Amino acid sequence: MPSALAVASNRGPLSFSRTPDGDLAVRRGAGGLVSALGSAMRGRDALWVAAALSDGDREAAYASGGAVEREGFRVCLLDIEQATYDRYYNEIANRFLWFVCHYLWEPSRAPSVGPAEREAWASYQDVNRRFARAVAEGTGEAAPAMLQDYHLALAPRMLRESRPDLRIALFWHIPFPEPDYMSLLPDAWTHELLTGMLGADLVGFQTRRWARNFVECVRELLGAKAARAVQHEGRQSRIGIYPVGVDPEHLATSAADPAVKKEKAILRRWLGDRRLVLRVDRTELSKNILRGFGAYELLLERRPDLHGKIAHLALLTPSRRDVPEYREYIAECEAGAKRINERFASVDWEPLRVEIEDNFPRALAAYGMYDVLVVNPVFDGMNLVAREGPTLNRNNGSLVLSRNAGAWEDLRSAALGVNPFDVEGTSAAIERGIDMPAEERRERAVRLRRLARGKPPSRWLERQIKDLPPPA
Ligand code: G6P
Repeated sequence: MPSALAVASNRGPLSFSRTPDGDLAVRRGAGGLVSALGSAMRGRDALWVAAALSDGDREAAYASGGAVEREGFRVCLLDIEQATYDRYYNEIANRFLWFVCHYLWEPSRAPSVGPAEREAWASYQDVNRRFARAVAEGTGEAAPAMLQDYHLALAPRMLRESRPDLRIALFWHIPFPEPDYMSLLPDAWTHELLTGMLGADLVGFQTRRWARNFVECVRELLGAKAARAVQHEGRQSRIGIYPVGVDPEHLATSAADPAVKKEKAILRRWLGDRRLVLRVDRTELSKNILRGFGAYELLLERRPDLHGKIAHLALLTPSRRDVPEYREYIAECEAGAKRINERFASVDWEPLRVEIEDNFPRALAAYGMYDVLVVNPVFDGMNLVAREGPTLNRNNGSLVLSRNAGAWEDLRSAALGVNPFDVEGTSAAIERGIDMPAEERRERAVRLRRLARGKPPSRWLERQIKDLPPPA
């Protein structure tokens, strides 16, 4: 039966795997997007279209003969041939769109588009078409269809062509670049991306800044008329701002798990009574890990009195290891960390520990303990670490926060803001976090905790549905 609501995202809410005794086990899908949407979608008459990401997912899709119904979700998993998927996901979504939206290229070298990239673009079009088709087939008359993120930029227009009755929204979870940087993509791609997105009735962003950049892009690069809505080719798309934060109750429950207590004890043994400078990130270029380490190194150079009294922990979750730029970047981060330890370590002091593993209980434990949390992304749509940390911290910890993170808009009055490219400035902010008088620390931490808990994901989807045009 067609659903009263559809959502489509590359990663789905469930991930399946075959157990040794032959059953299909199900786990929650990974990532922030899934947790934001998951709580809003569970138990609704809604279809969730996602890509099958593993053999277990593919088996689950075949076994159900259509949509899989588990854990309060109805999920349609698209079985996309591996080579096509790689070109769509690794090449276009992760190497091109992620890079252009986070300003990660050095234009003297990249991007460079040749026949292989054009072939990858064709796969991106193809996968977007498949998503649009699945939504079109599974969604009821005039229902809201909520498409997610840069993986599906072309799908709104494709969906509109086959189902003009649907009320279509696209939410862009990451930053959007200014027109000059957007123009590093081939003209035809830019045109297709922008017009693809404008196939939606509503295009949503995390903050005003990314929405403004999008509006400037469609004005300059498409010649569209735009203010709060964009008029193009006889249609109108509304532009909306829907910041998505964390779910404080869910976080508190997760942090109360016995596994977190165990991790806390492990960290305490390593840290002793030293002050903790923490970062928690995916192994990812936009997170600016290397400059963060550089800032810490400058601090150790400047302040011998802090040697042995502070320690820096970097908890990094592996991500997108099939993309060469990511592998190279992480190797550089590890080399940087090694150099810092070689320069400053003593028999009983490890100045910087880098852990590359997926260990959420350890991150939750560390959130409770830090003195300074460093969140210095080059650019970031929102950044949930900047909200999770202060929500769980019990130590009046300071937050060093990039002014290019979406979270900055909400947290600016209580965080220590940094220009993420300025290593010396970042170093000074970490130092300020460490030296801050107790009263100021407490006052800022109280404010941070309150601000960080704002914008819970529960109402996020509802607000967008409400802003769609009424059924015709
Ligand atoms: C980050 C972004 C999301 C994006 C996700 C994809 O979490 O904030 O907007 O959808 O990355 O990650 P993946 O691991 O699926 O490539």
